[in-house]
Amino acid sequence: MDQLTIEGGHRLRGNIRVSGAKNAALPVLAATLLTGGTFSIRNLPRLRDIYTFKRLLTDLGVTIEETDASTDRNAPVLEVDSTSLKSYEAPYDLVRTMRASILVLGPLLARSGRARVSLPGGCAIGARPIDLHLKGLELMGARLKLREGYVDAKARRLKGAQIYLDIPSVTGTENLMMAASLAKGTTIIKNAAREPEIVSLGEMLNKMGAKIRGLGSDTLTIEGVDDLSPVDWEIMPDRIETGTFMMAVGASGGELILDGCMPDHLQAVISKLRSTGLKIDISGRSISVSKKGQLKSVDIKTAPYPGFPTDLQAQIMVLMALSGGLSVITETIFENRFMHVAELRRLGANINVEGRSAIIKGVKDLKGAPVMATDLRASACLVLAGLAAKGTTTISRVYHLDRGYEKIEEKLSRVGAKILREKTGQLF
Ligand code: EPZ
Repeated sequence: MDQLTIEGGHRLRGNIRVSGAKNAALPVLAATLLTGGTFSIRNLPRLRDIYTFKRLLTDLGVTIEETDASTDRNAPVLEVDSTSLKSYEAPYDLVRTMRASILVLGPLLARSGRARVSLPGGCAIGARPIDLHLKGLELMGARLKLREGYVDAKARRLKGAQIYLDIPSVTGTENLMMAASLAKGTTIIKNAAREPEIVSLGEMLNKMGAKIRGLGSDTLTIEGVDDLSPVDWEIMPDRIETGTFMMAVGASGGELILDGCMPDHLQAVISKLRSTGLKIDISGRSISVSKKGQLKSVDIKTAPYPGFPTDLQAQIMVLMALSGGLSVITETIFENRFMHVAELRRLGANINVEGRSAIIKGVKDLKGAPVMATDLRASACLVLAGLAAKGTTTISRVYHLDRGYEKIEEKLSRVGAKILREKTGQLF
């Protein structure tokens, strides 16, 4: 097990190039199951979850080759070919480590009429059901059986359907959009999620020959086609990584310029951070962030895109813990996404949780201590807290962090942070 040791109190200064988005890359990789032939996918982030998804695809019979990085970002280019699928099963031991494995359900069912995917089970931040995925597929004619912890799905050919999502589920929208692309007839998905990662997936599907309209809105119209073709595709930049580094300036002071990002995907975050007093300037694909003096307290309520993203809730809590007053953060997406509060309290934060709201009273400073990562974004929050805290903070279980951040300690060290990754002898 690795741990990170951070010596706080060092201002950040310099440029960071953001990586490809994990939550865009996973559905793109799943979409390669929709047709045989070779896809060429660029700007994939080097993340634990991407490695796990590649393993899942390989087990299904997909061939994956990493060619030399042909772009200046030194990110790998993957050649992916699912011509000879040999299985339609996503096993429990993979799915339980990465819920996004559920994204193979729709494509497998649409491509080969059969899929057997382990139910993901819950995770640290909530029960994470998939009922909306299943309801949508049933409306499209799939016959589903839930047994031994698996979804066993069959469909000679999916048919177009009218689907209303009770909740704008991100992967639910992605699964159903991919499945509908090869259905017979037209599918309309209402109350669809509008995240940029969904728009990017839809654009790739259209480049493959799908006929999807309404991308970016809450109503998607997908006219099914008989077959699709493989394409070259570049993964969009990670808006959550970008937001995390913007907040690192709020935690430790200084100035960062984030390159290769898509500022338009962060409007709610930029607006909120400006109201805390951070200075934020946008120039094309770069965002510069600087901090002058103590931050103001603001209230935050997470919401589906284009609202404030739940994946940045833990990170902004660090800034509010050091702000000049009282703030309330309300988490409306997941029922248990305050696991980082107990760890922040160990560093001296003054936070009380009442239901789905955390009430934060700003303190003058945080003091370094040993803390434990509980989930991906909570671990990012602890890194920011370590940058801000006086003294040394050690973060255990950083495998959580590696799921969604590519070499975060290297990127932060290059701009002045004192952060070291060490191997510990612990098994867990
Ligand atoms: C995606 O998860 C992201 N993961 C999450 O990022 C992100 O936090 C989440 O969307 C919300 O933005 C990927 O894209 C791989 P949902 P997803 O389905 O699709 C409930 C990260 O840190 N729901 O939009 O699983 C669900 O319980 C991860 O990168 C149902 O009730 O989230 C939750 O309360 C964490 N039934 C809400 O909807 C369903 O069938 C939103 O979940 C599906 C979801």
